[in-house]
Amino acid sequence: MNRSGPPSEMTPEDAAALLAFYVEAGVTDALGDEPVNRYALADEAARAAPASREPDAPRAIRADPRGDMAPPPAARVAAPAAIPLEDSQAAESARIVAARCKTLDELRQALAVFEGCPLRYTAKNLVFADGNPEARIMLVGEAPGRDEDLQGLPFVGRSGQLLDRMLAAIGLDRTSVYIANTLPWRPPGNRTPTPAEHAICMPFIERHIELMAPKVLLLLGGVSAKQLLHTDTGIMRLRGKWTAARIGERDIPALPTLHPAYLLRQPAQKRLAWRDLMALRAWLDTNPD
Ligand code: URA
Repeated sequence: MNRSGPPSEMTPEDAAALLAFYVEAGVTDALGDEPVNRYALADEAARAAPASREPDAPRAIRADPRGDMAPPPAARVAAPAAIPLEDSQAAESARIVAARCKTLDELRQALAVFEGCPLRYTAKNLVFADGNPEARIMLVGEAPGRDEDLQGLPFVGRSGQLLDRMLAAIGLDRTSVYIANTLPWRPPGNRTPTPAEHAICMPFIERHIELMAPKVLLLLGGVSAKQLLHTDTGIMRLRGKWTAARIGERDIPALPTLHPAYLLRQPAQKRLAWRDLMALRAWLDTNPD
């Protein structure tokens, strides 16, 4: 088999064998032909962009069921990441599009045709949400993985199965919670989303939360917590501490916790997640509708 020649010199059999080899090796996504130096673009944009105001630090709120003030959670406030000019324009257009949506259905439709985020071109499906849009609780994860991308639903793979068991442990299921992600498209090969991708998708998840109007947010993992609380503080310091997430005009009680995928890798940490779930259960019991 000729594996050394450029693709144009390959026979169809060689190409099929190479493709099979890629699939075997876990390569599931095709990227662009031309490499893009995002660091150089980001530097250019940073030089061109005016200095912007830092966002407010997350605030501790009176969400403890005993009525105690929770300790201030986040000492470090995230500075907005410099992103290429083209991406800030896409983020601005996302803000305009998202703000126009008056219902969750409109938001889903707007996302389905939104062309400003590169992730949509490598994803197979839009992963909007699952669960009950009337629920009091909204869970926000990071980004869809392979199974979620294939099914178009959040948390349906292994970490989703663990999440379902965690919810069941405190008497909840997908009829009593609503689930979405900070990013509605899978990053290719599950790579870490870029600051630009987050910036472009933020207006959508914020509007998503605003329209769903949950009474309480459970933030699954560091990415979700950092994005929605506008902080650089790590999840180990944020988890288990009630914080106000400023979404639109509201401060929503938010509890960051460990991501189920992390718990699959570090099962010993499930005891911490269990404490967080108990805190959520206590909040629900002491804050009836
Ligand atoms: N991990 C996430 O953060 N979200 C999903 O939907 C699946 C896995």
